[in-house]
Amino acid sequence: MSSQKELIDGFKKVCICRNVKARTIMSAIMQGNLSFEALRRKIGVGTGNCKAKRCRTPIEKRVKDYKKSLEKQTENPPV
Ligand code: FES
Repeated sequence: MSSQKELIDGFKKVCICRNVKARTIMSAIMQGNLSFEALRRKIGVGTGNCKAKRCRTPIEKRVKDYKKSLEKQTENPPV
């Protein structure tokens, strides 16, 4: 993803009920919160009125994509 797209994506609200933006979620993921439950405890996603019906899937996808990117880095470390 280009940096401009990442910047725009960061402002998207992912957990609408709790008003949590993508950049907040990605920051928490990069701090080591690598599951939906960990993110729920850390930043409160999924604790709104819909009980995570709207945000669980996109958040779990972000965690999965981040884990994949870590795996790629360990397979092909930068020189
Ligand atoms: S959108 Fe996250 S709890 Fe409703």
